[in-house]
Parts: sequence; C-alpha cells; structure tokens
Amino acid sequence: MKIVFATNNKNKLDEIREILGHGFEIMSLKDIGCTADIPETGNTLDENALLKAQYVFDNYGVSCFADDTGLEVDALNGDPGVHSARYAEGTDHNSEANMAKLLHELGENNNRRARFRTVIALIIKDEQAANGSRVLFFEGEIKGHIAREKHGNEGFGYDPLFIPEGYEKSFAELGMDVKNKISHRSRAVLKLSEYLKSNNLHI
Ligand code: IMP
Repeated sequence: MKIVFATNNKNKLDEIREILGHGFEIMSLKDIGCTADIPETGNTLDENALLKAQYVFDNYGVSCFADDTGLEVDALNGDPGVHSARYAEGTDHNSEANMAKLLHELGENNNRRARFRTVIALIIKDEQAANGSRVLFFEGEIKGHIAREKHGNEGFGYDPLFIPEGYEKSFAELGMDVKNKISHRSRAVLKLSEYLKSNNLHI
C-alpha cells in the first residue's frame, strides 16, 4: 500500500519516512503531480489537517494523511495556535517576525507555559465504509515554556524560543536528534505508525 503525505516539506518527509521504516511507501504531493496550494482556512488544527487530506483524497482518490501544527501559549489564551505560521501581520512562515511578535505579546509575563501540538488527519480508502473512506485523527504534544530571548540556530519556526519540559535548552540548541525523539510531530507520527502497522496497512 502506498500512502500520500500531503506536504512537500522535505524535513517532514524525511522525519516521517524514518519513523515509519521500510514497510511504507510515502509519497509527497509532488510525487503525485499535485501543485495546488491547498487552502488552510479551518479554525482548528483538526480542520486544517482534514482539509488538506480531504483535498488529496477527493482529487486523487488515494489514501493519504496531512498534518497541522500550532504553538499554544497559556498566557495568550492558546495563541498563536492555528495561526502559528502567519502570527505576525502580513507574513507567511516568517519565523523572525513571528518570534518577535510572540516575545512582544508575552512581555515580562512570568507565566510562559506553552505547548506544541500536532494533529494528523488520515483518510484510508475503504470500499466497505459508507463514504468509501475511513477518517482518523492522531495527536501529539510537547509541553514546555517560552524563553525570554532566542537561543540556538538549529530547527525552524519557533524552535529558538521553545524550551521543552525537563530540559534547559531550546529546541534550536538541542538539535534535530533530540527534538525528533520528543517532538509533538514525532509523537503524532508514532501513533499514526502504530495504527497503520496494527491494521496491516503496510505494503
Ligand atoms: P505546520 O502546520 O507544520 O506548517 O506549522 C505551522 C507553523 O507552526 C510553522 O510555520 C512554524 O512557525 C510552527 N511550527 C510547526 N512545527 C514547529 C516546530 O517543530 N518547531 C517550531 N515551530 C514549528
């Protein structure tokens, strides 16, 4: 069984292929000839992940999954959350601007608790099911706190500001090896992997 991951992000594809191992053939959007910029207009991570997976399923008729991630900060009532990529006004994936805004919004607040949360929506082709498919969600999270300034150069997004629980360094200082073992995304991917394997959906 081949399965499409609705992304062209090489880091995510590498990470997922490593976790899923040899029994799976993971294809990217590019691999199936999909060049669309799938709109992420949902109000929640679940909605956005499902929008992306549903687009691929409806247009290409293949089993697929998609993810959406947000950084949820307690003192900001869960912001930036689903808006993490475009937190700073008029930007898209501009990490420097997003981090500057986050530090500004938090100011001197001593409550800096936060978590990263990833939701994966999986759509499996299933002729027996009512709509010809089965939809499942898998979630992973990591708790931590927001530093008062940026630390480290590795990773991406908000990594220089996020210090995971039990560590004194940011994700950007800890590096990919440590991050990939404990991250929100790897925890969600692990649950996806367990589901696919226990349902004999590997090739
Ligand atoms: P996406 O859903 O993976 O595209 O993530 C949305 C936004 O959340 C990204 O643009 C990043 O700003 C942020 N983000 C997602 N995952 C991470 C991560 O592992 N570290 C830091 N920031 C992340």
